[in-house]
Amino acid sequence: MLSIDLKGKTAVITGASRGIGKAIAEVFADAGASLILLSRNKSLLEQVTKELNTKYKKPIANSLVLDVSNPEEVEKTFSKIDSIDILINNAGVHFTSSIKDMDIEKWKELLEINLHGAMYCSKFALPKMLSKKWGRIINIASTSGKYGEAYSGAYCSSKFALIGFTQSLANEVAREGITVNAVCPGWTETAMAEGILHDDTYARLSGISINKLKEYSLEAVPIGRYVSPYEVAYLTAFLANNHASAITGQAINICGGICMH
Ligand SMILES: NC(=O)c1ccc[n+]([C@@H]2O[C@H](COP(=O)([O-])OP(=O)(O)OC[C@H]3O[C@@H](n4cnc5c(N)ncnc54)[C@H](O)[C@@H]3O)[C@@H](O)[C@H]2O)c1
Repeated sequence: MLSIDLKGKTAVITGASRGIGKAIAEVFADAGASLILLSRNKSLLEQVTKELNTKYKKPIANSLVLDVSNPEEVEKTFSKIDSIDILINNAGVHFTSSIKDMDIEKWKELLEINLHGAMYCSKFALPKMLSKKWGRIINIASTSGKYGEAYSGAYCSSKFALIGFTQSLANEVAREGITVNAVCPGWTETAMAEGILHDDTYARLSGISINKLKEYSLEAVPIGRYVSPYEVAYLTAFLANNHASAITGQAINICGGICMH
């Protein structure tokens, strides 16, 4: 039987305190990986770590509080981690705004987290992968990195750029046993998606009610439902395992068919 085996591998997951990052932590733990969980939210992060260590009755997960947008903090945190086989750049934020009314500081802050954060973590994880000639970097991008959407200018820009970063780095380390891929979820059932669909800014800017916004967002998904964070986690686990060593530089959609390129 084909199963995903991550035994003996150490995976570092950013934004692991909830949503997709937490689902990735759970699925990777199931596949036998040791985990270093990173996030800004100390109490949620400690709770996830405790849950996993209790479930497996041994310390398979450790957590470190980290803001990925601070390069000095990223360097210091990664210097404390002995071994890294897999890096999941998952931490991300979203806000809704027209470009005309864009708060420039908020724009910069989002790019610092969604794009620069992935670069900082990759930069400081790479030496630990290069020394073993084996590694996996998986960037959680979005279908918003495949087509532009109104009022998500900062987010779309960050995710398009994250896919460009993925392709560039994949080429750079292709002969070193390291693969670099992006996973592109569509609407996924997490607090982030809830927040967007319940925030009246997007509905107001689009000239529709919040109820219509939710209805249209669901109608637009060919499979007729949102994606589960665990579905994103299983795809990520496949990309991390040994059977995926010929997949690199890809940006793979998991979106119920909403985007087909
Ligand atoms: N939910 C969706 O519909 C959807 C769709 C496509 C892509 N994504 C992407 O998936 C990833 C995870 O999103 P989610 O839906 O689980 O969101 P979420 O808001 O539930 O979780 C985001 C996580 O990132 C962490 N985080 C945010 N800023 C951080 C920072 N500066 N440093 C460290 N950690 C930070 C948060 O603490 C949290 O753990 C994001 O990159 C997001 O853009 C989500």
